[in-house]
Amino acid sequence: MTLRPAEVFRVAFQNPVLLAAGTCGFGRELSGVVDLEALGGMVTKSITMAPRAGNPAPRVAEFDAGMVNSIGLANPGMERARDDKLPWLADHLRRARVLVSVAGHTVEEYVELVRGMEAADGFAAFEINLSCPNDQRLGGRAFSLDRDALTAVIGRCRAETSRPLIAKLAPNDPDLVDTARAAVDAGADGLTLINTLPGRLLDPGDGHPRIGAGQGGMSGPALRPVGVHAVNAVAGAVDVPLIGVGGILNADHALEYLHAGASLVQVGTASFAAPRAAERIARDLARRRDLPAPWGASGRGGPSHASPG
Ligand code: DOR
Repeated sequence: MTLRPAEVFRVAFQNPVLLAAGTCGFGRELSGVVDLEALGGMVTKSITMAPRAGNPAPRVAEFDAGMVNSIGLANPGMERARDDKLPWLADHLRRARVLVSVAGHTVEEYVELVRGMEAADGFAAFEINLSCPNDQRLGGRAFSLDRDALTAVIGRCRAETSRPLIAKLAPNDPDLVDTARAAVDAGADGLTLINTLPGRLLDPGDGHPRIGAGQGGMSGPALRPVGVHAVNAVAGAVDVPLIGVGGILNADHALEYLHAGASLVQVGTASFAAPRAAERIARDLARRRDLPAPWGASGRGGPSHASPG
């Protein structure tokens, strides 16, 4: 059985499963292992204006309920991403949709990134990463936690592109629902909920941080209830599509997010142990009956059964 394509923020997706930012580089890196065309789509590694080497090693450490990363936005910078990486995606992907993730240090940098990428081919939408917990220049503080900065980024970027703008928000936000409303009022066409949660793993012997930067972002199974809760809470407050991400290992987990009100999901941490996890989840979802809208037989429309917090 196959799913009927669904339109989400004006883009047609063949299924609801995307690879999350940071899990497949710019696609080519995983293309020998993963059938990207079997996915709803993929999000590129976040692009910054200047190339970034990233944070000190080790950058990733596992624990019993997930992992902590502090990659530090390692990426080739905007020009190389646009001129060397995007053309491969434009040439190779027909069915899977590409979202380009951008991350700045200042409002101006976000604007320059969107302006600089806009003329490139090979992608359908921007994911504005406002929630990296690992940017040492920002002291590990997510951009989306500053309301004025958040609305300025979205409002200014909105004027630079005709593509959908999807804002990726942080989980450690006591006012997440208000932040989501503010992002939508400023012009976001969708929201990705959520980025990783700031966390720290210590060596029990000597008390040393297990990742080089000390602090990192936690992902994996422990994050799933946080993500599902965020989607459920925000779905009742805004009327743009939501992308749910955090701890999805299988189709049941994806369904939790879809029932909470997400139109799409992203798979991140599961891909590190099993690069084809997202493909498997997409295939398994296609066999399920009664998927929530916009995927189910009842079809169109926005999020389904979001229930009060
Ligand atoms: O957990 C994360 N790690 N979230 C981000 O937004 C960026 C990434 C990194 O590069 O550190």
